[in-house]
Amino acid sequence: MQAKTPEQSKTIMTDLVLPSETNPLNNLFGGELLARMDRCASIAARRHSRRIVVTASVNHVAFNRSVPLGSVVTVEAKVSRAFKTSMEVFIDVWIEDRESGLRDKANEAIYTFVAVDETGRPTTVPEINPETELEQQRYAAALRRKQLSLVLAGKMKPNEATELKALFS
Ligand SMILES: CC(C)(COP(=O)(O)OP(=O)(O)OC[C@H]1O[C@@H](n2cnc3c(N)ncnc32)[C@H](O)[C@@H]1OP(=O)(O)O)[C@@H](O)C(=O)NCCC(=O)NCCS
Repeated sequence: MQAKTPEQSKTIMTDLVLPSETNPLNNLFGGELLARMDRCASIAARRHSRRIVVTASVNHVAFNRSVPLGSVVTVEAKVSRAFKTSMEVFIDVWIEDRESGLRDKANEAIYTFVAVDETGRPTTVPEINPETELEQQRYAAALRRKQLSLVLAGKMKPNEATELKALFS
């Protein structure tokens, strides 16, 4: 299987915030943003693996800024690291200013997807070669995040999490 770059999985989705998607403060409902990020990230994971993909975990979400009604929201997702059957996907969320057209970073998230076959069994994915400095940083930290996610899910013993132990020793 030929290795790919994060850029090859890049997926960008732009959409408005409509009244039915807001909370009582007229800002985008958190669950709506989670769904948009999940859709965008799943396409990125599919582009990397060319397989059926399922969301295995939401590792991190930071709702740093509220997103007002009427905003133009852009969700951008890229695979940051591929393991054996799983892929970490980084998602950046931007709001576009109506007058200047400039984009401001609003939120970010990290999801994990697993490539599966038609019966739902995990299947291998291509390796990934990060190119830019940011891609290399995200790639380097991904194993630590994977181990943390597995420990929190009860799928890895804390004393087996080599990357986490290295942080504290
Ligand atoms: C995700 C799923 C396929 C994993 O199946 P599994 O039997 O645990 O398979 P494995 O133990 O072989 O794990 C497969 C990969 O997922 C990774 N993984 C599993 N759970 C994870 C978690 N919580 N966080 C990070 N990675 C995880 C494993 O580390 C492994 O990665 P690797 O092969 O790249 O090393 C399975 O749990 C599933 O189908 N879940 C439901 C998915 C779904 O429906 N999502 C939408 C929810 S509405």
